[in-house]
Amino acid sequence: MNKVEIIGTGSYVPSKVVSNNELSRMVNTSDEWIRTRTGIRERRISQGEDTSDMATKASIEAMKSANIEAGQIDLIILSTATPDSFIPSTSCIVQKNIKAVNATCFDISAACSGFIYAVDIGAQFIRSGRFKTVLVIGAETLSKIIDWQDRNTCILFGDGASAAILQSGEEEDIIAIHTGADGSKGRALTCPAIPVSNFYLKDEITLNKSKVSMDGKEIFKFAVKIMVKLVKLLLEESHCSLEEIKYIIPHQANYRIIECAAQKLGINTSKFYTNLDHYGNTSAASIGIALDEVYKKNLVESGDKILVVGFGGGLTYGGIIIKVR
Ligand code: UT7
Repeated sequence: MNKVEIIGTGSYVPSKVVSNNELSRMVNTSDEWIRTRTGIRERRISQGEDTSDMATKASIEAMKSANIEAGQIDLIILSTATPDSFIPSTSCIVQKNIKAVNATCFDISAACSGFIYAVDIGAQFIRSGRFKTVLVIGAETLSKIIDWQDRNTCILFGDGASAAILQSGEEEDIIAIHTGADGSKGRALTCPAIPVSNFYLKDEITLNKSKVSMDGKEIFKFAVKIMVKLVKLLLEESHCSLEEIKYIIPHQANYRIIECAAQKLGINTSKFYTNLDHYGNTSAASIGIALDEVYKKNLVESGDKILVVGFGGGLTYGGIIIKVR
């Protein structure tokens, strides 16, 4: 079986910063409520850039950090809940933009666990020998599916993109990986697509508006439980102890979720890397953006271990232990 190296990362967020105070002029909320209930202070919102635009910028940065040419990429996997279009896939648009002419392209949908799912799939293609170099992307323009009148959701999310280059190599950087889902809890976080409507259906169908709705409490409970379970499982699978993990990079959803998970694991929250105060929840992009920051800020060195863990709509979940190269 071939070994998988993570040879580069990149990320991108739009330049427009939207503060909690700005949102409090749109819905009945306050900076104080948002900060104390979530830890979020501000988020980045697209002023016209679509998912492929942000994904392209993150991918170019990842290629630069990996020191590879676009032509070397054999596969592009892009995870998003907010594609530019149904057809073509957003990965095909990125392929055109970066001129990765040799790449097979497809999108996946796993909501906030999308980056982890995409790494898992990409790694399998490398392990099997089918492809040598894979570009994995998590990118979202959540601002286009948010109901900006719903204070339960609109305060949480932001736009952004992240990317990583996986390549077949001498050393294994992915020392444990796990993904899963519980579709029975799918109603906790939804965004409808186009309902069935054709000439066989006599009743007129009112088009659902494609906006996010969520049972925040249900997700909160699920998130804490699954994060704790995944951390334990990944450590067990890799015969690692929590002390050996330099950072846990969680999906950046809510600081209170992280606090609860830390408490249940009996560890300090300082072990968790967070940036949700600045970006909010960027769904499939969140873990990759945080991972890229950890690398770019030189917070880790060669040989360190990072545990990433995520959960999201579906409900989906997943985690990876990465050995820093
Ligand atoms: O990637 C996965 C995506 N989803 C998540 O990560 C969501 C996870 N869940 C959460 O982060 C939290 O459940 C929320 C931040 C969404 C909500 O926090 P909470 O502590 O569970 O609040 P709550 O829903 O129990 O609401 C408490 C009160 C309610 O008022 P009443 O009924 O007590 O009078 C809400 O109406 O807070 C009210 N509320 C707000 N008030 C001011 C809800 N949203 C807001 C708001 N500003 N933005």
